Amino acid sequence: MEITHTIEDTREKIKQARTAGRKIGFVPTMGYLHRGHLSLVEEARKLADYQVMSIFVNRIQFNDPRDFDTYPRDLERDFAMARDAGVDLMFVPDDREMYRNPLTCVDMETLPEHLCGAARPGHFRGVFTVVSKLFNIVQPDCAVFGQKDIQQAVSIEKMTVDLNFPVRVVIAPTVREEDGLAMSSRNKRLSPEERSRATVIFRGLEAARGLISGGEKSAAVLLGMLREVIESGRPRAIDYTEMVDYETLQPADALGEKSVIAAAVFFGNTRLIDNMLILREGPGYRCVY
Ligand code: PAJ
Repeated sequence: MEITHTIEDTREKIKQARTAGRKIGFVPTMGYLHRGHLSLVEEARKLADYQVMSIFVNRIQFNDPRDFDTYPRDLERDFAMARDAGVDLMFVPDDREMYRNPLTCVDMETLPEHLCGAARPGHFRGVFTVVSKLFNIVQPDCAVFGQKDIQQAVSIEKMTVDLNFPVRVVIAPTVREEDGLAMSSRNKRLSPEERSRATVIFRGLEAARGLISGGEKSAAVLLGMLREVIESGRPRAIDYTEMVDYETLQPADALGEKSVIAAAVFFGNTRLIDNMLILREGPGYRCVY
């Protein structure tokens, strides 16, 4: 695995790979890698034969400076994991390389309004801006994002179409711990006691799925069940539990063709998110989470 720190070196390596006829896959991350991140590389391998990963803790997407300062970092460990996962090129820029007094940003109407966008003003603008920059630097054939951050993934799909990036965006399923907790770099911050209570988010989604398979469609009922199970884990706060339409990410009263049920919950100071996709299939629904 080669490691680059500058945009110029990164472009040069990728140019060489492209000249050799390789298709470029791309997985942007903020590091502190876990199996969730590595699963995205696996997914990229289905469509591309030269895998690029980036690690950049993107300051402008953190609305809470303390969250940025305490974001876990361990580059040596990340490099070893990425190498084992078959990453060909690792791009690790620093702040100065990515941002030199920029005046331009990328923002979007409506999609970022609900779910995490409501509680994290400016967050998605920071994400769209850095992902646009990374797409222009790497110019991948495909880029893979996790369903775990569903609002991010759906919005990036839309941004890619709106801004005509010649990139195929792929959304890959959420990788979970044995007990169902969605893998996240932030899980490391949970105390052992918070860690065990945090499984209520997954169990809440499972309970909602149970109601859906029994024919329930109402957002109020499904979210009521989700909230009840989450509250049983005594979280410090529930940021939101919402049901939205997948395409518009606007709140929905009842299940449609493609819906999302999502939650953001604080255990201590750690904010955890999770979600479930609900797809209409024939007379019933299939849940993906
Ligand atoms: P980060 O949180 O490091 O996540 C990088 C990618 O890994 C995202 O696409 C995210 O959805 C995916 N991911 C995280 N946990 C996952 C899990 N348990 N299963 C499957 N995929 C998972 O998301 C970001 O970084 C940043 O916002 C970024 C897109 C890199 C822009 O800065």
